[in-house]
Amino acid sequence: MIMSKTIGILTSGGDCAGLNAAIRAVVHSATRLGWKVIGIEDGTHGLLSHPPRVKELKPENWTNTVLRMGGTLLGTTNKGDPFAYPMEDGTLKDRTDEILDNLESLNIDALIGIGGDGSLDILHRMMKKRNIGFIGIPKTIDNDVALTESCIGFDTAVQVATEALDRLQPTAASHDRAMLLEVMGRDAGHIALVAGLAGGADVILIPEIPYDIEKVVAHIQKIKDGGRNYALIVVSEALKTTGGDAMMVKHADGQKRYGGVGGYVANQIFERTGIETRVTVLGHVQRGAAPSHRDRMIATAFGTEAVRLIAKGKVGRMVAWHARNVINVPIEEAVADYQQVDPQGALVKSARAIGICLGDE
Ligand code: F6P
Repeated sequence: MIMSKTIGILTSGGDCAGLNAAIRAVVHSATRLGWKVIGIEDGTHGLLSHPPRVKELKPENWTNTVLRMGGTLLGTTNKGDPFAYPMEDGTLKDRTDEILDNLESLNIDALIGIGGDGSLDILHRMMKKRNIGFIGIPKTIDNDVALTESCIGFDTAVQVATEALDRLQPTAASHDRAMLLEVMGRDAGHIALVAGLAGGADVILIPEIPYDIEKVVAHIQKIKDGGRNYALIVVSEALKTTGGDAMMVKHADGQKRYGGVGGYVANQIFERTGIETRVTVLGHVQRGAAPSHRDRMIATAFGTEAVRLIAKGKVGRMVAWHARNVINVPIEEAVADYQQVDPQGALVKSARAIGICLGDE
């Protein structure tokens, strides 16, 4: 006999495709058990408002249309760590008690947080302060959360990046150019590697594999000398310069984000070969799209498993994808680490085997 419960749900960190599919899965499966689902707006920011910005989520509001939609209908934020919240006077303040007081006023039995490793870590530590049951659902286009083979949003982002390469190839061939695509991936090269393989890249540069620009240039020159009039290069935004510096852009709000390494590599290629090299920075296009079937499937499996875990009273867990199945792992272990590309893994080996240059040989 499962007792009636009230659960909260929020999305946190950068958005991606498949978040709405996960929320829908939670709403449908929880309300079928007779539970109430409270959606919290804009991540923890919704709990910093007085009264908190929340709305009850009912199946009739979460139709099949929602399953197909990118973004998050709850809103999200990737700013303002509640443990060190930036205040207007320039100081940092611990605002976790404010958030927790608001959360407790909602009388929730457990919280489901959909986020990347940073958000899941913050939410878990915060819920522990008041013993509120917490379940994490991993999402990020970067696919770098530990202990899960897939995060919601990755597959769609790779699909977008692959399609970009499909579009760049004919224009590259028409103009005798090298085309360089810079893709997202904060500190991990998963998008670059998978999209590069799927989109027929000649060169893939990722932060996990140190590169030598002379080897990259030699590979492109060899393609030209062999009679092919174009080349496709994929570069992950987190790649460093040959001097070891991260290329960052300071935005108007003072925040620094990765950006610009594609232009840096393109210049190096042009200076050494004279081959016209054009840069496309894909940016947030990778985050906004109707989710792929795989992201919808994983989101649905994650959302329903999160509800099952709460029903069993098994909290402090993160749902994860492993060997074609949904499992759950201790959240502390998941957030203690993050998952980069394995330089000895099957995808890197496959890339090398078909002659793709990874910059190191
Ligand atoms: O972590 C997801 C991600 O899209 C990264 O790939 C990227 O570096 C970052 O977020 C961009 O953040 P923002 O949306 O704040 O520009």
